[in-house]
Amino acid sequence: MMLSSVQVFFTAVIVMFSFTQASPLVSSIHSRDADAANDTLATASIKTFAYTKQAIINTLALSNGTSTLPEPTGLSLKYATIGRGVQNYTCVNSTAQAIPVAIGALAVLYDITAQVLLDPANISSMVDTAANMPASTFILRNMPLDIPAVGTYPVIGEHFFQADATPTFDLFVVGKRAFCKLTTKINAPETSSMGIDGTGSVAWLSLAAEAPSVGIAQVYRVLTAGGNAPPTCAGQAANISILYSAAYHFYA
Ligand SMILES: *[C@@H]1O[C@H](CO)[C@@H](O)[C@H](O)[C@H]1NC(C)=O
Ligand SMILES: *[C@@H]1O[C@H](CO)[C@@H](O)[C@H](O)[C@H]1NC(C)=O
Ligand SMILES: *[C@@H]1O[C@H](CO)[C@@H](O)[C@H](O)[C@H]1NC(C)=O
Ligand SMILES: *[C@@H]1O[C@H](CO)[C@@H](O)[C@H](O)[C@H]1NC(C)=O
Ligand SMILES: *[C@@H]1O[C@H](CO)[C@@H](O)[C@H](O)[C@H]1NC(C)=O
Ligand SMILES: *[C@@H]1O[C@H](CO)[C@@H](O)[C@H](O)[C@H]1NC(C)=O
Repeated sequence: MMLSSVQVFFTAVIVMFSFTQASPLVSSIHSRDADAANDTLATASIKTFAYTKQAIINTLALSNGTSTLPEPTGLSLKYATIGRGVQNYTCVNSTAQAIPVAIGALAVLYDITAQVLLDPANISSMVDTAANMPASTFILRNMPLDIPAVGTYPVIGEHFFQADATPTFDLFVVGKRAFCKLTTKINAPETSSMGIDGTGSVAWLSLAAEAPSVGIAQVYRVLTAGGNAPPTCAGQAANISILYSAAYHFYA
């Protein structure tokens, strides 16, 4: 089911509002830097073995089976997140002769760093579960992501993008920002989820954070579920918002 523009507009207004006025709820949630979380895990000996940074990097999906995104050489995982939102497209008319054109995206980012450090192999299944949660749970900027029977993950920030501008990640809870440039793009694996709107999954990306980014050097978008445009504009409105989820990982 696609979000109506009224719904998306409304949630976008909430996003803009909350953006200027950080909610006490969100501000009070202490989000974990991967290094800090690791210290906690090591001290508490929650697991009898410790994942190394390289093991975590190796476990994060970077390959679609035939192509692989470049590894984050010399960098450490800082934040592992799940993003949920919309990819926006426009149609010049509603015929099959017109093809949707990408105009931007908007997503809320949830912090799963601690979970990833405990069990990096499970991210894929978490993202998949989150991707298939009801449409009404997308772009809820003011509440955590509750994955039934798995855990509750706080908002850490948001992602926004306009096709003619810079992909931006604002991790406002931890005061980090990334203004990005695409470096590598590979198709989502053929076995990827079709997404809630049934259109298939957007590509996997490696993005370089550029000045004036703060505390982030590289961003990955992987394990995508949904977000592709419909194949043509047949029967579509002028503005289309397609629901999607993805794992976004931040390195520095
Ligand atoms: C976690 O800490 C251990 C022990 O200090 C270290 O060997 C390991 O590389 C660290 N892992 C990460 C992900 O930082
Ligand atoms: C719809 O747009 C397409 C692509 O620009 C064009 O080829 C086609 O003639 C248009 N159809 C109508 C009915 O306007
Ligand atoms: C996405 O589309 C919705 C309307 O459907 C709009 O409110 C939002 O601003 C758009 N965002 C971007 C980045 O295009
Ligand atoms: C992994 O995630 C799935 C679905 O999100 C969940 O059912 C399962 O309990 C998780 N496993 C672990 C070990 O966290
Ligand atoms: C992986 O991505 C490449 C580049 O986009 C594409 O050519 C290839 O078909 C993809 N492989 C699979 C298995 O989807
Ligand atoms: C589509 O979105 C643009 C802005 O992105 C807006 O100017 C236009 O009014 C929208 N059209 C409709 C039919 O909602």
